[in-house]
Amino acid sequence: MKNQIEKLKREKNAVVLAHYYTSAEVQEIADYVGDSFYLAKIAKQSKADIIVFCGVYFMGESAKILNPDKKVLMPDLTADCPMAHMVADGIIDEKRKKYDDLAVVCYINSTAKLKCQSDVCVTSSNAVKIVKSLPNKNIFFIPDKNLGRFVAEQVPEKNIIINDGCCPIHAKITAEQLCAEKEKHPEAPVLSHPECEAEVLEKTDYIGSTADIIAYAKQSNADEFIVCTEDGVNYKLISDNPDKRFYYPDPHPCCADMKLNTLDTVLSVLKNEDKEVVIEDRVRDGALLPLEKMLELTK
Ligand code: 13P
Ligand code: SF4
Repeated sequence: MKNQIEKLKREKNAVVLAHYYTSAEVQEIADYVGDSFYLAKIAKQSKADIIVFCGVYFMGESAKILNPDKKVLMPDLTADCPMAHMVADGIIDEKRKKYDDLAVVCYINSTAKLKCQSDVCVTSSNAVKIVKSLPNKNIFFIPDKNLGRFVAEQVPEKNIIINDGCCPIHAKITAEQLCAEKEKHPEAPVLSHPECEAEVLEKTDYIGSTADIIAYAKQSNADEFIVCTEDGVNYKLISDNPDKRFYYPDPHPCCADMKLNTLDTVLSVLKNEDKEVVIEDRVRDGALLPLEKMLELTK
């Protein structure tokens, strides 16, 4: 299957982008593997005719918004991030009416329709920097309450209103599960994604995006770590650090939607070009502005 995928990529001038949460077999055949910010930048710069996006729907959708003339395919169009929808109808208008200078800051893990109502997008690797740089005092941070709270702690000079959404996978990691790992591995620093709940982040040594966690583990002198994020990151962590050990809360955090990307589904979509991301022009135009603003503010 790997050979067939490589052949089709060459024949069709296609590139495969994969998030760190996909399975090892998918990361192995991908041309680019990264966190959501890196993948959005790569999608924007790509010279390929076809982008096969192995991730969840908002990622493929963002790639298409940034590349309207390219064919963006997803191995499984039903791979979705539940958090992307967790903003109540009408709440954005309600907040805009309440605060004159409100900036709506939208985590990239959101639908294109929510992006259309937002001023700027962020990812977990640039949210603090972007919120700090905004002139607005009042910020409505959607959809993730945990990333929103983390940003609010880092940027106390702003009034950050936090929406009530969360990632069901990260929110399931408990302080008890983390403490059980800490007891087994007392020397291991804890590395967590900011989508985790406060009780987990309070017991964490380093908080960062998937790419930040991977970079931290590589430069650290420690030889073992407890990792509080989706276990797909383990592929890159052990490839970069064959002599280090990585432990996860029990049960291992696993995003079933990300795991819908398989060698079978990648091969099938490359052959048939049938699972294309299609976005209405009106939605595309509205969602492009906050995505481009994010890219501009992080230049
Ligand atoms: P990153 O931005 O760290 O890649 O995270 C994406 C994500 O979906 C986290 O659950
Ligand atoms: Fe969405 Fe959570 Fe899966 Fe990331 S891990 S894609 S935030 S459900």
